[in-house]
Amino acid sequence: MTTLSLKVNKITQEAEGIQSYELVDPKGGLLPMFTAGGHLDIELGNGLARQYSISSDPADVDRYVIAVLREPESRGGSVWMHDNLKEGDAVTVHTPRNNFPLSDQAKHHILMAGGIGVTPMMAMARDLSARGESFEMHYCTRTPARTAFKDEIAASNFADKVHFHHDNGNPAEGFDIAGFLKDVRDGAHVYYCGPGGFMHACEQAADHWPRGTVHFEFFSVDETVEHGDSEAFQVEIASTGQMLDVPADKSIVDVLRANGFEVETMCEEGICGTCATVMLSGDADHRDFVLDDEEKERGEFIMVCCSRSKSPVLKLDL
Ligand code: FES
Repeated sequence: MTTLSLKVNKITQEAEGIQSYELVDPKGGLLPMFTAGGHLDIELGNGLARQYSISSDPADVDRYVIAVLREPESRGGSVWMHDNLKEGDAVTVHTPRNNFPLSDQAKHHILMAGGIGVTPMMAMARDLSARGESFEMHYCTRTPARTAFKDEIAASNFADKVHFHHDNGNPAEGFDIAGFLKDVRDGAHVYYCGPGGFMHACEQAADHWPRGTVHFEFFSVDETVEHGDSEAFQVEIASTGQMLDVPADKSIVDVLRANGFEVETMCEEGICGTCATVMLSGDADHRDFVLDDEEKERGEFIMVCCSRSKSPVLKLDL
């Protein structure tokens, strides 16, 4: 994976607890392209690496903008970003990747953002607007003061497509997501990103939409998902025929590394998609938050940092 050393060019207070960071090449050069919905893996200098969606326009090839909500209860990445990064600092990032692309099949795009989940939606809205595609965006936050990018949206040429919904801390007062998604709209695709409660509400509300028309991105592990007990199984290495035991208390990555295989990982909790590995046979017990239901059913890939196997053997293309 290619890394880039970038300069923090500008830090902006976007809303209560939310700062955006504009990252540029220190020599003023162009940056690798990204597509709307893409994210950066940022090395935080304290041994952590975190994924942040890019909010800037994919057509801007000289900067990436990310926005970060300071979350003291989280694993520390956002606090480190807020408390340590200063304008002019250098940061190491990995070239952008995209687990949340826009569909080229959609006749209409419905972007649903909850709080800081607006970051990928900003890039999507800019891209869709530039391409003249049909879309609407619903942006749910607690209050206007907690609404990042609201001035930028108001000044944009897609302002009339964005609908703001504030619940003042009481979800019952907020956007009726279930009611909004009740009727399936022909040719429309739904995209959602936000905190846990918002993700659940969207998932349930869009449950009856046709396969392949609903897209989402988690930015933290959904702690409410119960995976049940972990059982032991074996992985078969396609290139060598080796059979490796994966005990109940070890991940596939642990076992692969212990046997000399190099596996690239980043989050190690099923969020970033770095460890996606081709699966040739077996019945995976997918425990990641990257693949959608259709991709899980297709069974082409498995996230080996967190997923397991329901079948006694899982054959991997390694
Ligand atoms: S390392 Fe991030 S999904 Fe596996």
